Amino acid sequence: MSRLSTVSGKQIQNIIYGTAYKRWRTARLLHEALAIGYRSIDTANWSTFHLRFTLTLVKNSFEVYVGNALSETSISREDLFVQSKFVSAPHHTPFAPPFPAYDGQNAEEACHLSFLRSLENLKTLYLDAFLINAPEITPDSMVPLLKLLLRFKDEKKTRYTGVCNIATVDTLAQLHKTVPGAIQIVQNPLHSPWDPEYKIPQYCRDHGIQYNTFNTLTGSDRIIKNNSLKSIGEENGTTPQVAFLQYCVQTGITPLVGARSQENLRSSLIVANGEGKQLPKEQMHKISRLMAEQSIINRFRGAKLLERRNREMKKKRGTQKMRSDQAKYLQATYVQREQDEQQVVERAKARAEALAEKLRKDLQENT
Ligand SMILES: NC(=O)c1ccc[n+]([C@@H]2O[C@H](COP(=O)([O-])OP(=O)(O)OC[C@H]3O[C@@H](n4cnc5c(N)ncnc54)[C@H](OP(=O)(O)O)[C@@H]3O)[C@@H](O)[C@H]2O)c1
Repeated sequence: MSRLSTVSGKQIQNIIYGTAYKRWRTARLLHEALAIGYRSIDTANWSTFHLRFTLTLVKNSFEVYVGNALSETSISREDLFVQSKFVSAPHHTPFAPPFPAYDGQNAEEACHLSFLRSLENLKTLYLDAFLINAPEITPDSMVPLLKLLLRFKDEKKTRYTGVCNIATVDTLAQLHKTVPGAIQIVQNPLHSPWDPEYKIPQYCRDHGIQYNTFNTLTGSDRIIKNNSLKSIGEENGTTPQVAFLQYCVQTGITPLVGARSQENLRSSLIVANGEGKQLPKEQMHKISRLMAEQSIINRFRGAKLLERRNREMKKKRGTQKMRSDQAKYLQATYVQREQDEQQVVERAKARAEALAEKLRKDLQENT
């Protein structure tokens, strides 16, 4: 598949600017990214609660801030590639209770509403791409959502569609075959915690699907710190991070980068615009080896994290059991104590009655 493009026919950049986690700075940072030269933007319709300085709790959708910046820029909408998502988290603005839960038919309704909300937030008549980010939804429930995406595309409300956080290549293949044409983009973490990480990108390459990654730099700490990458960067007159982004692009990945600093955004613009020096085969192989190492480390870290969580859960369950045993013991001993005390009282009463009886008899005999 040829690269995705904007309405004006410009190919999307090799790096997509990510707007997430910037909160109140979202609009300002997006203005800066646009001024530096980024034209492909990733966002999502999701919201969270925030404690404001007035100590009031407000629910905020930062997609609105993205929309504000887009409506203020002088860059024409047709030259921009704007991608948003349906995020199936329960904290979603319009769907918090009493709105329906996200499964079965309800997921379809929620996805439809989310799409309309994104158009409104972003102040646009169409999205360039719309993705479903609903990892907890089963593949069977995902099928009607993908069909809904095709409908949006038929109605010219979005130009491309896809999915995020797909766990296995089998799920991807199954969905891709069941609803042909609905998956043109897959957005996953670079070092997938699920399937061996090369499988999904390979499937995407073979089937002309664009492969977006997040955690590209944050999940690659060992690669970035490695001396070989440092030298590769130096040889190419750039930083390890930019060299690594160039590597990703050369392997067919379209990374998402949400840098807050202008310096970082500027440094990776040449990669975004396809003007970076191509890494030769030998350097690509070196970085591929680092990727494999990082992948093993990340898996080990993931397993350790899971182990720690399990231990904590066990400990918590252990403490709970200990407390409940203590409570049972105390209850049992309390009952026993009550019974013992009762017996003492009964015995004392019996003795008192016997004594009284004896006194009564003595008195009768003496009178
Ligand atoms: N679909 C999903 O489930 C999902 C999940 C997470 C994220 N995303 C998307 O992916 C985007 C990217 O998020 P991310 O979590 O991958 O991380 P990120 O926001 O891109 O942050 C990456 C880190 O790398 C640094 N950095 C970026 N460019 C650099 C450069 N050229 N040189 C040196 N350092 C650089 C940044 O530093 P500075 O900030 O200091 O510049 C930041 O600390 C998000 O904005 C969002 O759109 C999607």
